[in-house]
Amino acid sequence: MIESSDLRMTRIPLNHGAGHMPALGFGTLISDAAATTSATRDALEAGFRHFDCAERYRNEREVGEALQAGLAAEGLTREMVFVTTKLWNSNHRPERVEPAFEASLDRLRLNYLDLYLIHTPFAFQPGDEQDPRDQDGNVLYDHGVTLLETWRAMESLMDHGKCQAIGLSDITLNELLPIYESARIKPAVVQVEAHPYLPETELLEFCKRKGIVFLAFAPLGHGVRPGPLEDPVISAIAARVGKTPAQVLLAWAVQRGTALLTTPRTAARARENFNISALPEDALDEINRIQTRQRLNEVVKTGSPGFIAQGKRT
Ligand SMILES: NC(=O)c1ccc[n+]([C@@H]2O[C@H](COP(=O)([O-])OP(=O)(O)OC[C@H]3O[C@@H](n4cnc5c(N)ncnc54)[C@H](OP(=O)(O)O)[C@@H]3O)[C@@H](O)[C@H]2O)c1
Repeated sequence: MIESSDLRMTRIPLNHGAGHMPALGFGTLISDAAATTSATRDALEAGFRHFDCAERYRNEREVGEALQAGLAAEGLTREMVFVTTKLWNSNHRPERVEPAFEASLDRLRLNYLDLYLIHTPFAFQPGDEQDPRDQDGNVLYDHGVTLLETWRAMESLMDHGKCQAIGLSDITLNELLPIYESARIKPAVVQVEAHPYLPETELLEFCKRKGIVFLAFAPLGHGVRPGPLEDPVISAIAARVGKTPAQVLLAWAVQRGTALLTTPRTAARARENFNISALPEDALDEINRIQTRQRLNEVVKTGSPGFIAQGKRT
């Protein structure tokens, strides 16, 4: 099912038509505008051909500029990169979906998207405020729209040829099942947190059975320490195979059949994170036997983004 024996070139087929997703993806969740631009250029130069964006990251303009300049500098065409962005929670009302999509496209300076995702299954009060709260600080949810209604509007974008594929993010298997059953156009991709401390095996098995790409975010555990990057099993394998812990974690993710999103912020780390190679079977088995369990991002429970800050080395 997966093309190429070189992990760096792995491309996973999408269930909508003929498209493929490069397994190694670069994530643009970077708060600083200048750092977004330089990290995006560095990722492209290192070999990344898959870019994950979101209106919520508030940096689609910087990513779009960096991609436009980077493609020209590298002699690449638009078709040679895979670009995703995401519909934010405050735009779940069906009439808001297409305008939100068009605004993202405009900021990214693109005329089509490879993938558009519903960022979370939680609808927030519709409007321009991305984080609507009451006076006590509680999130204002929108109970006037269902996830299926939002999905139908995503299907319309596909009907109008605006994007090549649609999917969901920050969703549990229980929430995904009814959408999958009712969807006229089945989700092509599910993006969730996954690493050896949160393998999401049941969801991964479902996705494999249904031909849905499982796209892992935080494959390095978001750099949280202690975390997967410092796990003794990962460190021992890294020493044994002559790779870094980050390269071991990324190779494991691709070899278990997932695509991934990582966020190297420097050119050296972009090259490191792209330069992965296959681990031997016994190493994969050892990683699969790690017992530690840790979710690092609570977005799946509330719709409000954010990694758990404690323990993060800055
Ligand atoms: N759907 C969602 O709700 C959602 C949520 C979160 C993320 N995402 C997407 O997933 C992407 C990736 O998530 P992530 O940023 O958590 O991924 P990650 O690659 O697991 O973590 C990134 C952090 O790991 C560190 N790092 C990167 N390369 C390293 C290396 N070679 N060695 C040691 N440390 C390294 C960096 O820390 P330093 O800061 O020290 O450089 C970086 O901040 C995001 O950019 C975004 O596109 C989606």
